[in-house]
Amino acid sequence: MGRFDGRVVVITGAGAGIGRDSALAFAREGAAVAVLEVRAVRAEQTAELVRQAGGTAVAFPCDVRDGVQVEQAIAAVAERFGRIDVLFNNAGTTRPGDVVSVSIEDWDMVLDVNLRGTFLVSRAVLPQMLALGGGAVINMGSVDGLAGDARMAAYNAAKAAVVNLTRSMAIDFGPRGVRVNCICPGLVGTPAVLRMFSDESRQRMQAVTPLGRIGRPGDIASLAVFLASDDAAYINGTTVVADGGLMARTGMPI
Ligand SMILES: NC(=O)c1ccc[n+]([C@@H]2O[C@H](COP(=O)([O-])OP(=O)(O)OC[C@H]3O[C@@H](n4cnc5c(N)ncnc54)[C@H](O)[C@@H]3O)[C@@H](O)[C@H]2O)c1
Repeated sequence: MGRFDGRVVVITGAGAGIGRDSALAFAREGAAVAVLEVRAVRAEQTAELVRQAGGTAVAFPCDVRDGVQVEQAIAAVAERFGRIDVLFNNAGTTRPGDVVSVSIEDWDMVLDVNLRGTFLVSRAVLPQMLALGGGAVINMGSVDGLAGDARMAAYNAAKAAVVNLTRSMAIDFGPRGVRVNCICPGLVGTPAVLRMFSDESRQRMQAVTPLGRIGRPGDIASLAVFLASDDAAYINGTTVVADGGLMARTGMPI
């Protein structure tokens, strides 16, 4: 018996990285997974990986920035599976730059995928959950939404907004049975991150992380599964940091 037998989980950005591992983790617990992903080929690859592992998953190609595509995708999920119990707003992206150097296009892209996407997909899914009498939403923040980093202006702003949107949603929908929580990972070694960071910068990250390693996608997937499960029945409006202890430091040079 899995914790999600008979339940339906929507995961955005599930074509790679943390989203893909989360699709596999929820499916292992018995969930049927709806893979919402802007890249259709990746979406289908994740769904196929889940099916090969013995689970149930269907790809729904969708750009979370586009309200019409989101409404159509969520309607298709509801038609295919008949219910939606969990939403993991995982899709995200980043572009470098301070407020002078970042282009307006990059600023809009980062705010649109991370924040507008979370808003649009939540707006489409919540009526389905409310009709069932409850559900769980996990929003994807970042340690970059709790503290700042150099040349990450758009990402710092977008993730901080996601953290506080989580509180707002928890207050508005908790009374109607929907729990809403936020995950803030530190650096996670997804394939894209491992390609982007040199060995040297990865070693520097490990050196400042009390657990001595960067995160694995599975570290975050298992947290998402827990927060969405009945084991977390009294957890609502919370931000959970999963960073190996990175943020435990004050950063004082002593
Ligand atoms: N990897 C990290 O170190 C890290 C740390 C903190 C937070 N996060 C957050 O975790 C989430 C997942 O990160 P990841 O590292 O697995 O990313 P990733 O780049 O490996 O995967 C993200 C997926 O989202 C998809 N996506 C992008 N824009 C989309 C859109 N408009 N509509 C639908 N899908 C879209 C991409 O195609 C990709 O498949 C993001 O929100 C990211 O900001 C990641």
